[in-house]
Amino acid sequence: MCGIVGYFGKRKASEILVDGLRRMEYRGYDSAGVACLHDGVIGLVKNPGKIKGLREKVDGSDLDSMQHAHLGIGHTRWATHGAPNEVNAHPHLDASGHFVMVHNGIIENYKEIKAGLSQHGIECVSETDSEVLVQLIAYCYKDNLEKAVSEALKKVKGTYGIVVLTDKEPGKLVAARCGSPIVIGLGAEETLIASDASAIIPHTRDAMYLEDYDMAVITADGVKMFDLQHAPISREVTEMDWDIDAAEKGEYAHFMLKEMFEQPSAIRNAIRGRLDFEMGTAILSGLDFSPRDTAQINRVLVVGCGTSMNAGMVGEYAIEEMAGIPAEVEQAAEFRYRNPIVTPLDLVVAISQSGETADTLAAVREAKHKGAVVAGLCNVVGSTIARETGRGIYLHAGPEIGVASTKAFTCQVAVLLMMALKLARGRRMPRHQGEELCRWIERLPELVEKVLAQNEAIKAVAEKYADKQNAFFIGRGYLYPVALEGALKLKEISYIHAEGYHAAELKHGPIALLEETTPIVALLNNIPGKEKTMGNAEECKARKAPVIAVVTEGDEATAEGFDDMIVVPDCPPCIAPIPTVVALQLLSYHIAAARGCEIDQPRNLAKSVTVE
Ligand code: F6R
Repeated sequence: MCGIVGYFGKRKASEILVDGLRRMEYRGYDSAGVACLHDGVIGLVKNPGKIKGLREKVDGSDLDSMQHAHLGIGHTRWATHGAPNEVNAHPHLDASGHFVMVHNGIIENYKEIKAGLSQHGIECVSETDSEVLVQLIAYCYKDNLEKAVSEALKKVKGTYGIVVLTDKEPGKLVAARCGSPIVIGLGAEETLIASDASAIIPHTRDAMYLEDYDMAVITADGVKMFDLQHAPISREVTEMDWDIDAAEKGEYAHFMLKEMFEQPSAIRNAIRGRLDFEMGTAILSGLDFSPRDTAQINRVLVVGCGTSMNAGMVGEYAIEEMAGIPAEVEQAAEFRYRNPIVTPLDLVVAISQSGETADTLAAVREAKHKGAVVAGLCNVVGSTIARETGRGIYLHAGPEIGVASTKAFTCQVAVLLMMALKLARGRRMPRHQGEELCRWIERLPELVEKVLAQNEAIKAVAEKYADKQNAFFIGRGYLYPVALEGALKLKEISYIHAEGYHAAELKHGPIALLEETTPIVALLNNIPGKEKTMGNAEECKARKAPVIAVVTEGDEATAEGFDDMIVVPDCPPCIAPIPTVVALQLLSYHIAAARGCEIDQPRNLAKSVTVE
């Protein structure tokens, strides 16, 4: 989704800004731009399309000749209001040309503000909701930028992360946030501002995260923070622990491929220090419930979106089965609006890789409002959901740059299994069973390595199906969420229409679509329900649909009569989602690669969905 970067320091601003935007490309965008200020002049370059195009436009432009422009702002835009063209791209200038701003989020009352500005003769040139905000700031300006910003923000409904500058006060940047992340990097004699840590980590590890309704004023004297009433506030400086190499794709053709191959080490990091073999339980300091607290949990509600919701469904099954606590997974956007029944005895677990997904964040707020105990399961340290939930568990999977989520899913499932184990041991699971589960969780990296070792074999299967237009994934029990996730992976990166179904559900409608060009990926692992799924796969075969059978090692006979086979290691049902999903990730990746798709940045998608 949109990305913001800002720079104030001694180096050439335009270069740092364009490089920062390149590092945020993975978030998804369709136009980009930068603005710098030098000698009282604002230079602005915008470009629909990729950063490469922006860079070419900047080279040789006024901005490039601004060798001594030491402050500026940049933006990657993922279109919401108005087409992805140059006029709608950020940064936006106000009508007087003295103020320039970048904005993430949505100004919900922009039409009202626009009409009001129009009555004062101020007309917007773009179709965006964002432009009205810079016009409003300019309108509110008397002699102080931060005062104008806070005046304008008080009139705004919606979400924003902004950075603004004006040639009227050339040594100043003002940033503010409400619902859209802003992180400030404190370097040696320089300050960086971004919506995403990846634009900052090459320059500094020291960061401050803005809270909602915070405003930061950056000048040569450093960073000063205020609330919207201008009362000074302070925010803690934290150290960002991500390694710069983790945000580069190195020898891999794509970030997605790299991240799939990182899964053994990512899972190791997610489980490190969290398994207590002696007591047969998990140590999750973010869930510091006593057995008495655990006994009082009435229900576990898991909320998330997309891949995170699919992981949550595995958690739902594990928590119910192991701990005997009623558990439900719910799409976060539904949860936030449908007035769900939530009580103080409910534990709500919000799952989000980015920790910034708007719907998941709103679900957290709704659950807190209704008094539930809320825990976050996030990857990005310091992200809004991690901070707002207050308690929770970090994945420690490292940065996930590929838009299609891979290592986050497997680490989410690993952490949910540990959560189920902890809850189960506080209730009804005997120690020896807990110990056994600890041993299987410890073996997860090795099981994933076994699947990754079959990369070439899976590639060969994938290439046979690369020309297809439709596909179905079917599974039961713990493999039902894996079928959903397998289909999601395939559709988002290959643009093949793919649907995940419970194996039994196919004949209640979708079977009408089967024909010889519609492959079925049948999850036939040796777990309870296998025979029934086999029957469903036979039904597909009888309708001429080719079947790719995913089977357990040692049980290859199950694949006889089907068209292709992918083998995954033998493990208990609750463990099976992890190695199985890795096989499906590889399958999707190779199909997409064979089709020549833009794997890391699929069309229309954003890594972090910060709007509803
Ligand atoms: C799919 C994918 C998305 C995300 C979803 C939630 O590969 O990445 O479906 O899972 O947008 O994102 P987070 O986990 O950041 O809340």
